[in-house]
Amino acid sequence: MQDLLREIAEAAAAEADKGNVATYIPELAGIDTGQFGIAVATADGKLFSAGDADVPFSIQSVSKVFALALALGRVGEQIWRRVGREPSGLSFDSVLLLEREKGIPRNPFINAGALVATDTYLASSSPRAALGELLTFIRAAADDEAIHINETVALSEIATAHRNFSLAHYLASFDNLHASVDKVIGTYSHQCAVEMTCRQLAMAGRFLVDAPKMPALVSDERRRRINALMMTCGHYDGSGDFAFRVGMPGKSGVGGGILVISPSRASIAVWSPGLNPYGNSKLGTEAMQTFSHRTGWSVF
Ligand code: DON
Repeated sequence: MQDLLREIAEAAAAEADKGNVATYIPELAGIDTGQFGIAVATADGKLFSAGDADVPFSIQSVSKVFALALALGRVGEQIWRRVGREPSGLSFDSVLLLEREKGIPRNPFINAGALVATDTYLASSSPRAALGELLTFIRAAADDEAIHINETVALSEIATAHRNFSLAHYLASFDNLHASVDKVIGTYSHQCAVEMTCRQLAMAGRFLVDAPKMPALVSDERRRRINALMMTCGHYDGSGDFAFRVGMPGKSGVGGGILVISPSRASIAVWSPGLNPYGNSKLGTEAMQTFSHRTGWSVF
């Protein structure tokens, strides 16, 4: 495993086209696309890594996995009255279907659906308390108390969150937001600004791997369902392509991170800040394609 990860990191370093960073969150716009890290936390308790696996990055939409787990813990299956379970086939921040589908977002991994998940775990508590619970969940999953939120990134996102404010107001107009728009956007943007290294993220994803030594933070049924949603919706309109190329459930973030689960085997984190046209890590996706091909860890 160690040799394979080193080989993948070397191939990433040699790749000329590293993709482009997202520019709509100013604080993330200047990040060096030459960085690449990968880490694998295996079911037997080992942790392998290569490249820049100890460099913290903004997990952004990868946080939607933890937010969904927390929201499900709060209200259980009732959440499916407010958000669907189908891929949208549209970009992560699209407003298009919300009008036609009466304020019920297609799934919890596009921004509109993630705002509903945030509103659900926020409920009537303060953003500070809700984010405290989210961090407690992530730290328990990763077995790492050092994981934190980058306040500068959160504020940078809030200052330019015109799309997310639009989505939140749209949801509110259909009565599908309980807390105020400002509270939900504030909490959601802080959630996205959680920082982790590849090693920390691989550890944090272990609760989605069904094996005896993994942290049992959700029921077996929820774990299966979260994995199913990652497979079908985790890469937005690039979800089919990721399933085709990698064959494992994954959740990407616009910071360039991807969390990938190999059921029963491992939790994998890969990071490279340059993105492909879908807003998912370009080199991260290519690395996972190689990894899946070489290990045979596709679920298909
Ligand atoms: O809401 C946003 O736009 C960002 N905080 C997160 C978007 C994101 O990570 C999309 N993923 N590739």
